[in-house]
Amino acid sequence: MADRYLSFTGTAPGRFLTRRLGLPRPAALTRHTPGGPGLDGGLLHLTAGTSALDLAPVLARTGLGTDDDGHPAAAVLDATGIRDVDALTDVHAALHPVVRSVTTSGRIVVLGTPPDPDDHHQAAAQQALEGLTRSLGKETGRGRTVNLVRLAGTAAAAESTLRFLLSPKSAYVSGQVIDIGTAPDTTPGPGTDEQPLTGRTALVTGAARGIGEAVAETLARDGAHVVVLDVPQAEQDAARLAERLGGTPLTLDITAAHAGRRILEALPDGLDILVHNAGITRDRRLANMPADRWTPVLDVNLASVLRTTDTLLDAGALRPGGRIVATSSIAGIAGNAGQTNYGAAKAGIIGLVRSLAPRALAAHGVTVNAVAPGFIETRMTAAVPLFIREAGRRMNSLAQGGLPADVAETTAWLAHPGSGAVNGQIVRVCGQSLLGA
Ligand SMILES: NC(=O)c1ccc[n+]([C@@H]2O[C@H](COP(=O)([O-])OP(=O)(O)OC[C@H]3O[C@@H](n4cnc5c(N)ncnc54)[C@H](O)[C@@H]3O)[C@@H](O)[C@H]2O)c1
Repeated sequence: MADRYLSFTGTAPGRFLTRRLGLPRPAALTRHTPGGPGLDGGLLHLTAGTSALDLAPVLARTGLGTDDDGHPAAAVLDATGIRDVDALTDVHAALHPVVRSVTTSGRIVVLGTPPDPDDHHQAAAQQALEGLTRSLGKETGRGRTVNLVRLAGTAAAAESTLRFLLSPKSAYVSGQVIDIGTAPDTTPGPGTDEQPLTGRTALVTGAARGIGEAVAETLARDGAHVVVLDVPQAEQDAARLAERLGGTPLTLDITAAHAGRRILEALPDGLDILVHNAGITRDRRLANMPADRWTPVLDVNLASVLRTTDTLLDAGALRPGGRIVATSSIAGIAGNAGQTNYGAAKAGIIGLVRSLAPRALAAHGVTVNAVAPGFIETRMTAAVPLFIREAGRRMNSLAQGGLPADVAETTAWLAHPGSGAVNGQIVRVCGQSLLGA
């Protein structure tokens, strides 16, 4: 369903009316196109406090030149050296003169360190960066995003994350806090910058349409061999997509008892990337919800994710350097009336990711993360009644819905061979939705 309001606000009468009436004014976001331009301008590297981070070589590899005209496409503030509240003055001093000059659809990334449980002054100052980031995200407008990356280790461990955040691929990711760990190994493979997933095999559930289709397309674009899994009713779409991507179709109900075994049979050599995307909704308020609307939602969105993950990990089918990306939702964070079943399942995904991530990395060398989409323009959201749909679209800092490609690009970043230090994260792809934290 096209966002006609967004198109209208891009016209001269639309701009006039929205300004006069104080209506939301979404900017048309710049998104990635293969071979297309990146962000429109250079990069400004700012520092607050005394930093020991060797950031310059990592920023040089983002492909963004140095800002030389006072209109940066990206401003990166290294605030890792901030250890007390007085030093926050430096954060203000660094950002205040430049925020207005960041270009439309530009990026602001703040770098911090994890709050220290043994130093409440450092913890206060570093936690303050979170409030600053989320507030600035709500202020900046014009399609600009603001995110906080917290580094426990070196700048190199954050390279894939910075390259993602400082590119058009992260157009709908804003107001996020991403923790980067200290993974020793980023498992270099045969991939190139353009096709980092060359030689890797990815399985995407629910891939015949919507977000899953975009994830399959994006992982294939990045070089992966993609197995397109969907229910038997979607066989034709799955087969067509697999053929277009040079992948393999696999028709299977992911809730079936034998699902894990069928996947193992289809992938005797194992796999590298497992994307749990299949999902359903059966909305009704809890007081009116019979068990036959509760159980399938829990089964598709959560129980089957647990079962499949366990089967594949226990069988050693996920190769070292592997990636699991599960799909949560802002409904699992903020809750949503009529979605106790869905909200429970999607919150369960967060519990699963946080608990399994450190153990899966230690035992199998596999990272486990989740994407939590907000309002994404798909058949699922096109079915939402008009006024609720409009509210869902506008109630975020970018004042528009996201596209399946936005979730797909986020998944591709998490699946990247260089993202080994990104583990246990729940990354919202929601344009900084006003719902939830
Ligand atoms: N669209 C949004 O705004 C939004 C927001 C938050 C989260 N999500 C989540 O993103 C994921 C994809 O959503 P979408 O909007 O693309 O949905 P969609 O309904 O367009 O596509 C879901 C796909 O999953 C498949 N599927 C359903 N049950 C299955 C099963 N038992 N086995 C195998 N495949 C199955 C469907 O056939 C379909 O192809 C879901 O997990 C959804 O909950 C979507």
